[in-house]
Amino acid sequence: MWNGVVIVQDSLLRHVMKQSSQVLLFFLVVWMLLFLVVFTYFFDSQVNQTQKAISISYSDGQHVARDSRELKKTHSSRFAERRGLFQSRRDFKLSDSIYKQLHLRNIYKMRLERRIKKNKTKTIDNTWLLMEGLWKGNVSSNMLNRRLQRVIKDYVRVNKHKVLYKGKRNASRSRQELLCQMKLQTRLKSLDSSEQPFVRLGFQRWFPSQPLQKVYKTCAVVSSAGSILNSLMGREIDSHEAVLRFNSAPSIGYERDVGNKTTIRIMNSQILANPKYKFNSSSIYKNIALLAWDPAPYNFDLEKWYKRPDYDLFKPYIAHRESFPEQPFYILHPSFIWNLWDFVQSNTVENIQPNPPSSGFIGITVMMNLCEEVDVYEYIPSVRQSSLCHYHEKYVDVACTFGAYHPLIYEKMLVKRMGTASEHDLRKKGMVTLPGFSKITCPT
Ligand SMILES: *[C@@H]1O[C@H](CO)[C@@H](O)[C@H](O)[C@H]1NC(C)=O
Ligand SMILES: *[C@@H]1O[C@H](CO)[C@@H](O)[C@H](O)[C@H]1NC(C)=O
Ligand SMILES: *[C@@H]1O[C@H](CO)[C@@H](O)[C@H](O)[C@H]1NC(C)=O
Ligand SMILES: *[C@@H]1O[C@H](CO)[C@@H](O)[C@H](O)[C@H]1NC(C)=O
Ligand SMILES: *[C@@H]1O[C@H](CO)[C@@H](O)[C@H](O)[C@H]1NC(C)=O
Repeated sequence: MWNGVVIVQDSLLRHVMKQSSQVLLFFLVVWMLLFLVVFTYFFDSQVNQTQKAISISYSDGQHVARDSRELKKTHSSRFAERRGLFQSRRDFKLSDSIYKQLHLRNIYKMRLERRIKKNKTKTIDNTWLLMEGLWKGNVSSNMLNRRLQRVIKDYVRVNKHKVLYKGKRNASRSRQELLCQMKLQTRLKSLDSSEQPFVRLGFQRWFPSQPLQKVYKTCAVVSSAGSILNSLMGREIDSHEAVLRFNSAPSIGYERDVGNKTTIRIMNSQILANPKYKFNSSSIYKNIALLAWDPAPYNFDLEKWYKRPDYDLFKPYIAHRESFPEQPFYILHPSFIWNLWDFVQSNTVENIQPNPPSSGFIGITVMMNLCEEVDVYEYIPSVRQSSLCHYHEKYVDVACTFGAYHPLIYEKMLVKRMGTASEHDLRKKGMVTLPGFSKITCPT
């Protein structure tokens, strides 16, 4: 009798257990499927997010925003070069537990980012902290928001241009020491036909026979920052003997704030290569001196650079030289660009982004070579600072002021330290005055 009950209970138990294990198995499978779906979703959005951050950052400073389709293309290929967290899943050779940890970390990061994004007050505080820092000449990367900090770390890790800095670092040089170091290290140099591959390719037909060396008394460098809107600086800017503008920045329609005079225009290679900027037809590139540049490898291997420039600037350069042989048009030598980068790193303790300096800082340096005195407008932001990237575009991102791709905060801090502008002029006008190299006397 008891035995019978036990047997019945036993088989019942077995039956129940079998069923519940089936149920358990079912739930396990469902859970795994769910996990997979959720993981794929978050992994993708994480990648997209970083991709967005990178693409935005590439256009910071006085760079121009790329056309979005092109962006997608270049950045996905750029992306493919990267190692680590954002590698495609196929390439993962990680154990499942690490994979799971990674996944949890991504979800955590995303939640945190969303919370921070919601916290508007926090973002604004950050911006003001940075601006105060720039006005006083004391900023560091930990004042930047998390997104920018993370993007900068990524750039340091990826090191696309193979930067290898071996020099000293000293953040306490005096103003005079900084100016002398800059004068010594960043003499203007453009491509000439004395080096390969340009000798072989007969570029002496295209390069101007005389280097750019005209000396101007007073010069204005007009940044394209959104915060120059409503500055009413137009007349003051035009009163300079020479005015430098950047990329595709127009003056028509904005004369009141940016003036109407252009003497030199400095352009990155995207302006020449991308038809959207109408380099071969727009009047903004006519009847002025032109300077173009493109990020080359850090060791300025010219052969390699000529074969694979970031954007092909050589073909449009030749076409333009053919059509307008009288127009002064130079390509900056990569050594000039990277010597300027070295100058920034040698005066900064932190690792700066291993990418070329911004067009803004390149332009300032060009003008310090050519002018006795240089007034720089809205490079260091005034109180008008907003996240509007360029006065002539609707594009918005704080990276344009503080840098993600370019080492902007470090450049700006050096400009502040070398300049003579009062804190009042910096805040109110966003203007800083620098001496030209010809006016700097250094111990020999
Ligand atoms: C949001 O801002 C408030 C007040 O400024 C601050 O106390 C809080 O820590 C911030 N939260 C986050 C997640 O940053
Ligand atoms: C710069 O700011 C940091 C804090 O952000 C401070 O510790 C340091 O003393 C400041 N340096 C100068 C020269 O003011
Ligand atoms: C950094 O520069 C300052 C000013 O020239 C100098 O006094 C100091 O010795 C330098 N420090 C190092 C470590 O070279
Ligand atoms: C620039 O503006 C001034 C007035 O502010 C005007 O006299 C001058 O003709 C303008 N120049 C050009 C090239 O439009
Ligand atoms: C400018 O270049 C584009 C191709 O990039 C070409 O289609 C167009 O005809 C050129 N315009 C002029 C005026 O040369």
